[in-house]
Amino acid sequence: MEEQEMTAESRMPASGGTAALWIGTTPQTAYPSLSRDLTVDVAIIGGGIVGLTAALLLKQSGASVALLVSNRIAEGVSGHTTAKITSAHGLIYQYLIDHVKEERARQYADANQAAIEFIASFLEENHISADFHRTVACTYTLEDADLPAIQKEVEAASELGLPVTYTDSLPLPFEIKGAICFENQAYFHPRKYLLALAERIPGNGSYLFEHTRVTDVKEGNSCQVVTGHGIVKAKHVVVATHFPILNRGLFFAKMNPVRSYLMAVKTLTEPPEGMYISTEKVAHTVRKHVTDAGEVYLLIGGESHETGEERDTLARYAKIESFARRHFDIQSIAYRWSTQDNQPVDRIPFIGRHSQLSHLLYVATGLKGWGMTGGTAAGMIISDLISRRPNPWSAVFDPNRFTPFLSKKFISRNIHVAKMFIKDHLPTGEKKNLQDLKPGAAGVVDKDGEQVAAFQDEQGTKLVLSSSCTHMGCTVGWNNAERSWDCPCHGSRFDVEGHVIQAPAVADLERKA
Ligand code: FES
Repeated sequence: MEEQEMTAESRMPASGGTAALWIGTTPQTAYPSLSRDLTVDVAIIGGGIVGLTAALLLKQSGASVALLVSNRIAEGVSGHTTAKITSAHGLIYQYLIDHVKEERARQYADANQAAIEFIASFLEENHISADFHRTVACTYTLEDADLPAIQKEVEAASELGLPVTYTDSLPLPFEIKGAICFENQAYFHPRKYLLALAERIPGNGSYLFEHTRVTDVKEGNSCQVVTGHGIVKAKHVVVATHFPILNRGLFFAKMNPVRSYLMAVKTLTEPPEGMYISTEKVAHTVRKHVTDAGEVYLLIGGESHETGEERDTLARYAKIESFARRHFDIQSIAYRWSTQDNQPVDRIPFIGRHSQLSHLLYVATGLKGWGMTGGTAAGMIISDLISRRPNPWSAVFDPNRFTPFLSKKFISRNIHVAKMFIKDHLPTGEKKNLQDLKPGAAGVVDKDGEQVAAFQDEQGTKLVLSSSCTHMGCTVGWNNAERSWDCPCHGSRFDVEGHVIQAPAVADLERKA
């Protein structure tokens, strides 16, 4: 597919909607669906950065691959990222040294640094620009109380060989107390990069199929990947669906899904160089983005919350806009979008064998908000494991490591989830009747004694669905900014008509009327 710049207006929804800058400025893909049974060496489920990286590397190692995507490639979380390519993952390195020891902390650091260089080399070798720019990535604090943690993080990251410095001044339009800055990090246009990876996958016995939803994987001496369009037989399977669609690794009990919000704005004055994130509980992220065509955006975001726990998601955009207008000369808001990240209970992604009992299945999940490096590293690690090559970083990410099931955070997370399983539990705490629903509104309401998820359009037509998430039965809640039904338990999401838009669910919400 030829690289192509589109105008900002071309794929933007009508005023009030949401669209990611990356999706709005690249062409839509049109790969075929699976149409017959197939046999390959490796089947890869998921078309984000993990799946595409693993598919390309495995193909380059001589394996035949089939990449299967439920909708379109690079339109899920990888198409809704801040697109920072960095090893600066908040304050993580001192934590890792304290909790998993220095050797594993070094593996985490090295994997992410290697991912930066993998992306840079791919782009350079293939003469693709993809808006790639080297820049600094800083984590700053506004509080004196956080300064010791920042200073310790500088020491820890330096010890691990990361290119860090401490500063008490940044080119931001507000005062900070202190910051750790990582040199020689980068940003890019993720879809320009991912579409280029995808182009190289089909051919010579390898395939890329869109609109092909996988509903199950049967594992024996080899694997059978079940879709509505046919079965793919494979020696190995990689589950790269952001939240795994298979429950056998118990990841649903080890991660919580979190949503956050982002805007790409045009400013009247040149935005500051660099990428910045705060240590606040509800952090703000700020970064400059310059396109290949010389267009300059300021990306501002944050306002995260657990999925399904916010009644008015539109208010989150309003808060970001108010932060942006308070600190920068905003000319216009060009794009706004939200995303979802999986936060592992021990803060370390799960990359490797899907479960102890499984020898043919691999998984990558729990990449937090750092999927561009984490996802690239995951593709590299999984491709090495399947190709039986030693990988220097895999141990720290082992999905079958001991995870602190009895930690306070884990227990409170699972008590929260257990409440959501109780039938008739409404995430918003409200109980309305279907007839009370106003035009343009949606909610979980009572219909003849049954709890349902209902939407009424401006003309008064009602769409009534089961309110039980098809993954494990929690009650979904309405997301008014994205116009989706979101599950607070493990983050499945469904569009207004009940079609799955985000795993782990693989079946649509049942239509009631
Ligand atoms: Fe697991 Fe909904 S995502 S119950």
